[in-house]
Amino acid sequence: MATRKPLISGNWKMNLNHFEAIQLVQKLSYGLTKDDIDAVDVSIHPPFTDIRSVQTVLEADKIPIALGAQNCHWEVKGAFTGEIAPSMLAKLNVTYVICGHSERRELMGETNEMVNKKIKAITKAEMTAIMACGETLEQREAGEVESHLTTQLTEGLAGVKADTVASMVIAYEPIWAIGTGVTATPEDAQDTCKLVRKTVEDLYNKATADSVRIQYGGSVKPGTAPELMSQPDIDGALIGGAALSAEDFAHCIQYRLR
Ligand code: PGA
Repeated sequence: MATRKPLISGNWKMNLNHFEAIQLVQKLSYGLTKDDIDAVDVSIHPPFTDIRSVQTVLEADKIPIALGAQNCHWEVKGAFTGEIAPSMLAKLNVTYVICGHSERRELMGETNEMVNKKIKAITKAEMTAIMACGETLEQREAGEVESHLTTQLTEGLAGVKADTVASMVIAYEPIWAIGTGVTATPEDAQDTCKLVRKTVEDLYNKATADSVRIQYGGSVKPGTAPELMSQPDIDGALIGGAALSAEDFAHCIQYRLR
């Protein structure tokens, strides 16, 4: 089986101005050791207005944290008021771009087709897509987790090449666990991440499924990270609330020491 280096990502959502962002990054860098970074890839996803400031701090202080974004448009340029093109992010040395986060799907009407176009555009701009997927509580209770995730993955990845999928990241985030303080049990999270991997195998092949990194997201905290991260099909975490505290985010990254 392929060895997959875990990726722990901090999704700051619509929080922190660029001054606050710089402070958080500096505090976080004091809390992390070389061993942490050797063991785990780390990315942070500030709001667009903070990205240039965060890039400057990461590069000036040689902080080995990857820069990420929370979204982008799929077009290269043009009359798309308020949107950001992938190449603009690549120019700021952004490595990872989240697409299809449930908040964007639910609040901004992002569809699987849009997610699909974004994955292709992010890849074309030589960045790595973190594609988010996940079910609502109603879907879980109705026994529709598998059919829902299969649709999200099949449509979201349509026409995306196997080698792109092998090197990208899929974030499984049950919507009922996001920002609610309710985390899926490690067993439930493992079962569903395994299902995601199996779906990738069915859509592509075993090598691709073995290589893709699958994150769990939804109220991950320092206390829950170790057990979640010890599951065989969980290769990382997409963390919202706890990523806004340098201490909590560092403790999540240091899950293996706890
Ligand atoms: P949360 O957010 O950790 O605050 O639940 C996770 C996410 O939405 O990515």
